[in-house]
Amino acid sequence: AKTHHHTWNISYQYKSLDCFEKLAVTINGESPGPTIRATQGDTVVVTVHNKLETENTAIHWHGIRQHNSPWADGTAGVTQCPILPGETFTYRFVVDRPGTYMYHAHYGMQRVAGLDGMLIVSVPEGVVEPFVYDAEHTVLLMDWWNKTVYDQAVGLSSPSFKFVGEPQSLLINGKGVFNCSRLGNGGGGACSMTRPECGWPTLFTAVPGRTYRLRIGSLTSLSSLSFEIEGHTMTVVEADGYYVRPTVVKNLFIYSGETYSVLVTADQDPSRNYWAASHIVSRDPNKTAPGRAIFSYARNDPRALPPTTPPAGPAWDDTGSRINQSNLFVALPGHVEPPPARADRRLLLLNTQNWIGGHLKWAINGVSLSFPATPYLVAMKQGLRSEFDQIPPPDSYDYKNYDISRPPVTNGTVSHPVYRLAIGSVVDLVLQNTIQSNLGFNVSHTHPWHLHGHDMWVLGYGEGKFDPEADGGKLNMRNPVMKNTVVLHPQGWTAVRFRADNPGVWLFHCHLESHVYMGMGVVFEAGVELVPRLPASIIGCGRTKGHHY
Ligand code: C2O
Ligand code: CU
Repeated sequence: AKTHHHTWNISYQYKSLDCFEKLAVTINGESPGPTIRATQGDTVVVTVHNKLETENTAIHWHGIRQHNSPWADGTAGVTQCPILPGETFTYRFVVDRPGTYMYHAHYGMQRVAGLDGMLIVSVPEGVVEPFVYDAEHTVLLMDWWNKTVYDQAVGLSSPSFKFVGEPQSLLINGKGVFNCSRLGNGGGGACSMTRPECGWPTLFTAVPGRTYRLRIGSLTSLSSLSFEIEGHTMTVVEADGYYVRPTVVKNLFIYSGETYSVLVTADQDPSRNYWAASHIVSRDPNKTAPGRAIFSYARNDPRALPPTTPPAGPAWDDTGSRINQSNLFVALPGHVEPPPARADRRLLLLNTQNWIGGHLKWAINGVSLSFPATPYLVAMKQGLRSEFDQIPPPDSYDYKNYDISRPPVTNGTVSHPVYRLAIGSVVDLVLQNTIQSNLGFNVSHTHPWHLHGHDMWVLGYGEGKFDPEADGGKLNMRNPVMKNTVVLHPQGWTAVRFRADNPGVWLFHCHLESHVYMGMGVVFEAGVELVPRLPASIIGCGRTKGHHY
């Protein structure tokens, strides 16, 4: 196995990724950052210099389980103290599973500012994957705002509540086009549609007849997306690092935190180029410029715009098609371990939006998560009990009587919750969606939930309220996919199972940046006593400030 060393300078730079100039958090001057490539079993070492001047940072390796390195998960407030301006921090971890993964900032809402990228782990030489292709390319999907991350975060946490609003544009591999004329005065120099930095990127150039693997990841902050390539179908073969039964789709619905590998064969008229496009689904897309890219055939100018009108995307409010597609994905037989037959514990997790102390929050079973000043992992290893809640949050809610079609009647609390799980135990999580009515109308949002440190068997999705008696028996115990991010559809439920076999403290949260910022997450602890002595580099904030280790 090899060790891959990377040195990253994290700094603010003026960028015009969608033609509108704003401050972005960059890695060595770039947003998105470089793609990390490694082979299963390799060690990745990333030395991070925080050159943001006035802002902390922390970087999470999304989908990497961090076995034997729970302190390298990069989650500020959970697994480490933030990296202060001027400081250097080194992440070191083993990539123990092949697959398509990502990385991104995990401090405040910093991901919104563009600190992100992809992390690809290949199978070792000699290992044959259950599908063939000629070459591979990466596709990173994002949404992008004119407003800075500070504007967004302050708005969300202020008592008057200013919503971040819909993004101005969607980016594909860090490029997009915001129509500057929408700014009235043309943006006053801050916006120019002729900047070379923005525009529709060329995805790649295809040789007719060849088959390509696209490794697609979404790190959107708010948006759920549909991705498609005009005139071509995509065969989905991998999701979050696990092989799925090959499934042909025209539109791939992809939620923030998910990755997919799709196979695309260049089998159309090679004398022209084609559009690739991302569109918002589940929220009103009309304020957002779609993401577009050029799928080029060799011999054409790779930047030549396709001669056709770009695809319009599917109906944004067609929840049924999205649930159907979620249900289509099952494990490729023989490649994914089947789930344990039963669980030791089940948590029913009610997702609500609450007004708490004059602030709009998201809460799980009435508890809205805020990160303690001393990260959970540090607090637990140092015996600093007053830093987090000693009484665990509720395992369930009153599911017999609760009306999910109305906003919550009680206010809830903001605190530092933690579910303490027996190490090695099998845990079922059932996410339950509800109606929210914060902006004057009743809606139920889409929430992609991401589990740190583990993968989950996805046992099923349903509409309405999960009933343990009636629905418990309908779950897919035969060939569920495993994922690290699973979507909760509007007014529906999602059931997953996982084995709490990774000693440490792990965040489980909605991957929408404004939602987790407003408290939409929970924390799991399992076997923290088995975690060896923590590296001194993660310590030094909160109650451990000024201590020497
Ligand atoms: Cu990709 Cu905790 O997130
Ligand atoms: Cu959410």
